[in-house]
Amino acid sequence: MRKLHLGVLGSGSGSNYQALHDAITRGDLDAEIVMVMSDIPQARILERAREHGAPHAVIDCRGFASKFPSESQAEVALTMQEAKVDLICLAGFMRLIKSPLLDAFPQRVINIHPSLLPAFPGLKAWEQALDAKVAETGCTVHYVDEGMDTGPIILQHRVPVWPTDSYSSLHQRIQEAEHQLYPQAILQLRMKMDGPYEA
Ligand code: GRF
Repeated sequence: MRKLHLGVLGSGSGSNYQALHDAITRGDLDAEIVMVMSDIPQARILERAREHGAPHAVIDCRGFASKFPSESQAEVALTMQEAKVDLICLAGFMRLIKSPLLDAFPQRVINIHPSLLPAFPGLKAWEQALDAKVAETGCTVHYVDEGMDTGPIILQHRVPVWPTDSYSSLHQRIQEAEHQLYPQAILQLRMKMDGPYEA
């Protein structure tokens, strides 16, 4: 069985991308990151890809601040197909994905979100959790569908909320959990996958 080919999409710091890279380097995840793409040319995730010598590219979103135009999605799909990506991993990607990208990778796009979905979808989920005064929150890896943080759940990790938490201390605890969860979830998916992965 050949290594699982991962494509990563991110808009920010890329700490989850880094966690996937580290899990592969340690030998905990039998995969290869064959493409990293970002809609933000100066994003740290692209710098990290450069440092790792991983193939990377900027997505041209035609000047739209938050929309992800169809032409751009088609270009991402083509780039990912040319790189022979098996699974697209969203890691802090801030635009909503729809067809044609989802159609090109059915059941092959996953995301990591900083809450126990379906609780607290959307932005700054750790702030939502603290404001709601819940005793625990966490993080979720799920399949991506056309909604916002709504696809079927693959794996979750629980994180306690302490009475002394600030937004930033809770965010940090959730991020540490995310860095363990994402490689684990991909490993679990890998076990279930067939088709192109059997090459
Ligand atoms: C993570 O908290 C993830 O759950 C959310 O965006 C954040 C990305 O962080 N979807 P990073 O760029 O991986 O550091």
